[in-house]
Amino acid sequence: MGNITLESLCELLKSNRSYRRFNESKAITDSTLQQLVGLTRYCASARNLQPLRYRIVSSQKERDAIFPALKWAGYLSDWEGPAPSERPSAYLIQCLDVSLTTNCLCDDGLQLEAITLGASALGIHGCIIKAFNVPEIIAALHLPEQYKPLYVLALGYPAEKVVVTDTDGSHDADIRYYRTADSTHIVPKRPVSELIIK
Ligand SMILES: Cc1cc2nc3c(=O)[nH]c(=O)nc-3n(C[C@H](O)[C@H](O)[C@H](O)COP(=O)(O)O)c2cc1C
Repeated sequence: MGNITLESLCELLKSNRSYRRFNESKAITDSTLQQLVGLTRYCASARNLQPLRYRIVSSQKERDAIFPALKWAGYLSDWEGPAPSERPSAYLIQCLDVSLTTNCLCDDGLQLEAITLGASALGIHGCIIKAFNVPEIIAALHLPEQYKPLYVLALGYPAEKVVVTDTDGSHDADIRYYRTADSTHIVPKRPVSELIIK
C-alpha cells in the first residue's frame, strides 16, 4: 500500500473539511475533475450496480446559471453565500441514473467522500450541498430525465481557514459551526469517547 499509513489517512481526513469561500480565479481543469470522478470506480456499490453519474460544471456560464439554486451554510444565518470572486471554480452534480435504480443506498455518500478526499490531496476543497433547488439545476443544465440530481459538490481552491475543535463531549453540545472575528470557520466535532456506546 505504498506510503499510506493510518496517520497519513487521518491527516487527509482532517484536511477534508467543508470550504465555502474560494479563490475563483484559480481554475480546476476538466481532466482533474474527470480524475476525481474516476476515483468513484473503486468505491463499494450496493449490488455493484454503480448507478451514479456526474455532470461536470466548469464554464463560467454554467457556474453562473446554477449558483442561484444553491443554499449555503444554514448555521451562518447572516451570510448569503460566497461573494463573486469567492465562488467555486467548478461543480460536480452527482446524479442517480433512475433507469438503473431509484435507490442507491449509501453509494452517494461513499462516492462524495472519495471525491473530496482525492480533491483534498490536490489542495482542492469544497462543499457537499444537499440544499439546492432540483428543478432549477435540471433546467439550467438541460439534464435528461434519466438523471436525478442527488448532490451538488462545489469545488475550488480555498480562500478561508477552517479549523476543527472538540465539543465539550456532552450529548447536547453546541455542534453548530461558526466564524471567529478574523473570519476563521470553526467546526466543532464530538470526541471519540462520545461516539462509542457504553
Ligand atoms: C449530506 C450532506 C449535506 C450537506 N448539505 C449542505 C448544504 O446544503 N449547504 C452547505 O453549505 N453545507 C452542506 N453540507 C456541509 C456540512 O455543513 C458540513 O459537512 C458540516 O458543517 C461539517 O463540516 P465539515 O464538513 O468541515 O466536517 C452538507 C454535508 C453533508 C455530509
